[in-house]
Amino acid sequence: SLGELELHWEIDSTSSEIQRRATTLPDLSVILAETQSAGRGRRGRSWLSPPGLNIYLSCLKRFDAGFASLSGLSLAVGVIVMRTLATLGIEGAGLKWPNDVLSDAGKLAGILVELSGEYQGPCAAIIGVGLNVRLTPVLREQAGQPVNDLVGLAGGVAPDRNRVAAALIGALVEGLGQFERKGFGAFVDEYAAHDLLHAKALRVQGAQGSMDGVGAGVDARGALLLQTAEGVHSIDSADVSVRRT
Ligand code: BTN
Repeated sequence: SLGELELHWEIDSTSSEIQRRATTLPDLSVILAETQSAGRGRRGRSWLSPPGLNIYLSCLKRFDAGFASLSGLSLAVGVIVMRTLATLGIEGAGLKWPNDVLSDAGKLAGILVELSGEYQGPCAAIIGVGLNVRLTPVLREQAGQPVNDLVGLAGGVAPDRNRVAAALIGALVEGLGQFERKGFGAFVDEYAAHDLLHAKALRVQGAQGSMDGVGAGVDARGALLLQTAEGVHSIDSADVSVRRT
């Protein structure tokens, strides 16, 4: 069940705040901010976080089994965001491996999972979610990539932000408990149902170069399966980027 729930008007980053208090906060605590002054994205990017528009929250989840068992966690969080949208009756989004929530028009939510602790022992995940509820033209321009919001998916009707936040928090508490008990296996079918890369021509770019193939789903650990001329490769999410060709 939900730990502490805290709402800040302004904070540097909800994930940084959880990090600072990770030893004292109860499990499944959630911190929300109306605005972040130093919102963080993946790969050292920043996450624009103006007030009054979107949802910025982070959740603390502890695991006993160590982060060796958490390889599918960020994909599971993508599924949790999709469940949230389904609860709200919002359709038209899907998942781009490893954990972007997208629509045709652009990115709808960003997920940042940060792990600390032991590889095979007690560890903690800080799960940050930024969900675009209502973007402004300026924000769209500053985003540096195509973006979309719930207003766009809901046919121009702004969904109530408190309802969206409540649905997301409920889905996180439920889904993270499920992940703890059953692992990514409990999410893999739902992931496949929303997999935007399935059967698409892809280029995977990593430190060692790039590989072309066709998306063939994900495995039980959350690795991307890429069908190439030489066979099926499984690709771990660390430091690779995937784009459609
Ligand atoms: C991404 O790069 O796609 C991940 C973006 C994650 C943004 C969220 S907003 C709430 C939480 N606090 C942060 O500083 N980042 C995450």
